[in-house]
Amino acid sequence: MRIAVAGGTGLIGTMVAEIALAAGHQVVVLARGRGVDLVVGDGLTAALHGVDAVIDVTNVTTLSAKRSTTFFAAETANLLAAEKIAGVSHHLVLSIVGVDRAPYGYTPASTRRSGWSRSARCRGRSCAPPSSTRWP
Ligand SMILES: NC(=O)c1ccc[n+]([C@@H]2O[C@H](COP(=O)([O-])OP(=O)(O)OC[C@H]3O[C@@H](n4cnc5c(N)ncnc54)[C@H](OP(=O)(O)O)[C@@H]3O)[C@@H](O)[C@H]2O)c1
Repeated sequence: MRIAVAGGTGLIGTMVAEIALAAGHQVVVLARGRGVDLVVGDGLTAALHGVDAVIDVTNVTTLSAKRSTTFFAAETANLLAAEKIAGVSHHLVLSIVGVDRAPYGYTPASTRRSGWSRSARCRGRSCAPPSSTRWP
């Protein structure tokens, strides 16, 4: 399978990419450090050419509700739109355990990102928002 790891240079994304490679998958890393800005969205459809699944483990370092909402809304919308054009069939986004019970700062935007990924925007694809506790 060809898997795009959005945020594949981050803490979680690096591990996800390594595990996918070790399991024999092809991995495409989407991150600004690899020339792809998901908030801007330029070149995203081309980057997703031939990709079967996207794993979204991007993040923005902020406690601001406004900044995190702006970031997650833009990167999710751009990813889902580009996936639809590129024919990607699976979309997975990592959430945080209990995040929906902590409605402060960054967390409402993180919760909404999971909702967007289950919404009509994801129609026709298999979309899933598993959750993890914090990593050390
Ligand atoms: N860390 C944990 O313990 C934990 C636990 C549960 C859930 N999660 C969730 O997992 C996700 C990842 O967390 P993390 O700690 O691994 O984050 P992180 O280390 O801060 O990594 C963030 C990743 O997002 C990329 N990124 C940021 N802005 C971008 C943009 N505009 N366009 C493209 N890529 C962008 C970064 O790469 P560039 O800077 O190169 O763009 C980096 O690869 C988050 O949604 C978080 O809520 C994390």
